[in-house]
Amino acid sequence: MGPLKLFLLIGDPVEGSLSPAMMNAAFRSLKLNHFYVAVRVPGKFLGDAIAGAKKMGIAGLNVTIPHKIAVMRYLDALDESAAAAGAVNTVKNDRGRLIGFNTDGQGALRNLEEKVGSVRGRRVLLLGAGGAARAIAFSLVEAGADLTIANRTVSRAKELASLIERGLGKRVSFLPLNRDRLKNVLREKDILINATSVGMRPKVNETLVTAEMMHEGLIVYDIVYKPLQTRLLREARKAGAVALDGLGMLVRQGALAFEIWTGRKAPVRVMESAAKEELKRVMG
Ligand SMILES: NC(=O)c1ccc[n+]([C@@H]2O[C@H](COP(=O)([O-])OP(=O)(O)OC[C@H]3O[C@@H](n4cnc5c(N)ncnc54)[C@H](OP(=O)(O)O)[C@@H]3O)[C@@H](O)[C@H]2O)c1
Repeated sequence: MGPLKLFLLIGDPVEGSLSPAMMNAAFRSLKLNHFYVAVRVPGKFLGDAIAGAKKMGIAGLNVTIPHKIAVMRYLDALDESAAAAGAVNTVKNDRGRLIGFNTDGQGALRNLEEKVGSVRGRRVLLLGAGGAARAIAFSLVEAGADLTIANRTVSRAKELASLIERGLGKRVSFLPLNRDRLKNVLREKDILINATSVGMRPKVNETLVTAEMMHEGLIVYDIVYKPLQTRLLREARKAGAVALDGLGMLVRQGALAFEIWTGRKAPVRVMESAAKEELKRVMG
């Protein structure tokens, strides 16, 4: 069984997270003596919580809303994935040094490419410029996608576009979230990704894009997974577009964290079915 190792998810709130069920199922399936627990940490205690985790020899952490950016200042080093995205969702305790990683971008990219093939040369419209969108944007451009970013606060879309241009030397366009502009731009896009929280429970009837703004064959990827079938994905089906839900990204980002912590190949299918079961349970 090996030595006991503890892993934490820290965020606020953490109730209803699928990660404990998904990660513990993965540990059990590889017979690892590891346990994963979700802990609510209010922002004012974040520094203390990280110092405590380090002192207690916690082997690794996942970090979720609202701590993905704030946590960086308490870590000893950042991997390239976290430095580029400017956010951390995974921490590894490497013999007393806490190293920050970001697996959101690669998680989304791997899942998307599994479903629709390489994104190289494909024209992508990404909605959002928050933590998840930043990580996804970097991974997409690195993989050769032609990216446009639209965000409610347009200054954040502009800032993200220039950050990527400076970091990766590739041109990225941006625009505000205006229905007419989005409709025009979407005509010439291959892939639409929603990386905003619009459509998430409890506001499940909201969407930034409706069927008449889409075209047949457009790939619509919604990273929101509560609920799995968002209004955006229903609109996509109505338009004859391809609808992909956010559970795949959740599983892939978790699988990459598992591999960073354990050095073992993640049991992706086990993780996927545990996450699905838990989602059914928490959604009632
Ligand atoms: N599937 C997965 O594995 C996975 C992983 C991570 C996150 N997620 C999901 O992704 C979503 C975003 O997470 P995050 O960490 O990036 O959050 P975040 O950093 O808080 O960013 C939120 C984004 O949503 C936009 N937004 C919020 N309300 C809006 C509204 N009413 N109209 C238009 N835009 C709005 C924000 O625009 P402004 O900049 O204008 O505020 C911002 O771009 C959440 O639903 C989260 O559950 C899924």
